[in-house]
Amino acid sequence: MNKKFTVTSFREFKEKGKKISMLTAYDYPTAKILDESGVHAVLVGDSVGTVVLGYEDTIKVTMEDMIHHIKAVARGIKRAFLVGDLPFLSYHTGIYDSVRNAGRLVQEGGCKAVKLEGGREIVENVKAIINAGIPVMGHLGYTPQSINIFGGHKSQGKTFEVAKKIYQDALILQEAGVFSIVLECVPYKLAGFIAKKLDIPVIGIGSGPDCDGQVLVIQDALGLDEDFNPRHAKKYFNLGSVYREVVTKYIDEVDKGIFPTIENSFTVDDEVIERLEND
Ligand code: KIV
Repeated sequence: MNKKFTVTSFREFKEKGKKISMLTAYDYPTAKILDESGVHAVLVGDSVGTVVLGYEDTIKVTMEDMIHHIKAVARGIKRAFLVGDLPFLSYHTGIYDSVRNAGRLVQEGGCKAVKLEGGREIVENVKAIINAGIPVMGHLGYTPQSINIFGGHKSQGKTFEVAKKIYQDALILQEAGVFSIVLECVPYKLAGFIAKKLDIPVIGIGSGPDCDGQVLVIQDALGLDEDFNPRHAKKYFNLGSVYREVVTKYIDEVDKGIFPTIENSFTVDDEVIERLEND
């Protein structure tokens, strides 16, 4: 899998009915594994705040946090398409800030596109970023930066009014020129309806099987947090318990003098030690 996945590959995949796989990454080794494994796109999400930095939500994530993690991930990517999240308040304060901050993620961080949350209310910002030559991925449905408006992590689009707003916002973003839209925690029939109506691919998270692609937080797929079992995620492994086992074993081996052995150590001529003793 050596062919580069580019912004135009998104539309090509949609036209051919081929599914797009996307995973999040926040560090170099993870990025390298994802890239070499053949995932189509990698997202440095502002979920870095919750899954890496230990915040309660994504609100505290800053531009500096995003640039720091995007830089690390970009070093591990040769082939996949790299998208970086614009964090809370980096695009709500005006067109200038939106373009400036999107530009920083691309220029300083090294991602190829940016993702921002919201529909009609940020459409002018989206257009300005695209006009500056930066591809934009939309994000509708449950948008974590608005957690305090939603009153928690809740599926969006269960009523006709909200479903219609999400659908209309998707059309508005498509018209504005976004290359793809993430739909988060939207009922699967609504997500399937929107995916069918749009020409650009819809990437789902917690939005069912009828989207054009899927995105998952890598920590959730790996099962790193044993206490976090959201409905939308699938644990492909229990990395958390493996991690725990390794750490416990290491502590025990250090305690008992089992690790390290001389195989893990460096040597010196006996003469050096003898001279030290007689010095
Ligand atoms: O921040 C993130 O990881 C995201 C995905 C959940 C889509 O926005």
